[in-house]
Amino acid sequence: MRTQVVIIGSGPSGLLLGQLLAKAGIEAVILDRAGKDYILGRVRAGVLENGTVGLMDEAGAGARMHVEGLPHGGFSLAFDGRDHRIDLADLTGGKGVMVYGQTELTRDLMQQREVIGAKTIYDAANVRPHDFDGRSPYVTYEAEGVSHHIDCDFIAGCDGFHGVSRKAVPEKSITIFEKVYPFGWLGLLADVPPVNHELIYANHPGGFALCSMRSESRSRYYLQCALDERGEDWSDDRFWDELRRRLPAHHAEALVTGPSFEKSIAPLRSFVAEPMRFGKLFLVGDAAHIVPPTGAKGLNLAASDVHYLYAGLREYYQERSSAGIDAYSARALSRVWKAVRFSWWMTTMLHRFPDTGAFDQKIQEAELDYLTHSRAAATVLAENYVGLAY
Ligand code: APR
Ligand code: PHB
Repeated sequence: MRTQVVIIGSGPSGLLLGQLLAKAGIEAVILDRAGKDYILGRVRAGVLENGTVGLMDEAGAGARMHVEGLPHGGFSLAFDGRDHRIDLADLTGGKGVMVYGQTELTRDLMQQREVIGAKTIYDAANVRPHDFDGRSPYVTYEAEGVSHHIDCDFIAGCDGFHGVSRKAVPEKSITIFEKVYPFGWLGLLADVPPVNHELIYANHPGGFALCSMRSESRSRYYLQCALDERGEDWSDDRFWDELRRRLPAHHAEALVTGPSFEKSIAPLRSFVAEPMRFGKLFLVGDAAHIVPPTGAKGLNLAASDVHYLYAGLREYYQERSSAGIDAYSARALSRVWKAVRFSWWMTTMLHRFPDTGAFDQKIQEAELDYLTHSRAAATVLAENYVGLAY
């Protein structure tokens, strides 16, 4: 088989890239080691920047998002028993974010891919990129015990943090930057109305908490927890009690509780692999970088990578110019590092660290107080939260 671009990974990065390429008349085959139901069963973040919303529209997959997604013009920072609204719209000249679950975005992209009849191979075993340093790259995989080989012009490694693409690059050619945080997030989904019409990020002596949502009747809540804790140790009642404790009283009183249908613990890390291009192999999204979820940048960074790569590949096929693909890594990384900085900063400002002493706590309080009193400081937060320009 031969195609123009082989995309490894059918998560949001791979699907969005595939859809945009198809719109530009560039043929791509997507390979994923997992099945469709498994991919759609993963619960991830749900806050989209304007740029991501625009790319979903450009990909022809934005219709349901505009009907069911919740546009938000602000969020709250809660601390010291009170909360302060960050008015995103006012601080950024009318911008905001769209609350729409990553699972739904993935479902919409998969559906559009089916509509246009583009090829996706799920349950592909032993996917391997080859010869991306040479002139004739190709990808091999196995399906139902039979080996396959796809020749291509380019390979897009959209296979997430644990994928094979980054690992296929010789160690001496790649530089890794990493920071692992000494805590995790325990997340819970429940069909109860959200405690607030906007998100609440709470700094509390007992640890960080986040109140988010998937719809007007489905809530997503998180609690900072120790890394050695297990989801099974947290009954619903224990979770709700702890969440109430970490919220200002007026929110705690308004909290509607109910049975959860998903509960899981995720570790937090910042990770960047440089560069993001190795000959004819490009790393995209989680395959190249991970951010802690504070600020919801993971999916949005995947989308901006896709934007740069798609622009480069379109230029290559339509104008016979390599300028865009040559600039891909530098352009993507420049935006990646700003989001890595922002997620690290929000994480540091809002969480309890095991070695947080009285001094560090005072610094956090001063920072939060500054944000609530300085329009300039709040503008920096808002500008990053809604997403920096591509
Ligand atoms: N071979 C083929 N497919 C693979 C392999 C492999 N060896 N390893 C992983 N994959 C597939 C996974 O099954 C998954 O469907 O690659 C896909 C990667 O998807 P994601 O992990 O969702 O990564 P990405 O598409 O870059 O999404 C960006 O934003 O908020 C973040 O972490 C969040 O997933 C999110 C991301
Ligand atoms: C979520 O809704 O899952 C979510 C929202 C905002 C974040 C992280 C996660 O910063």
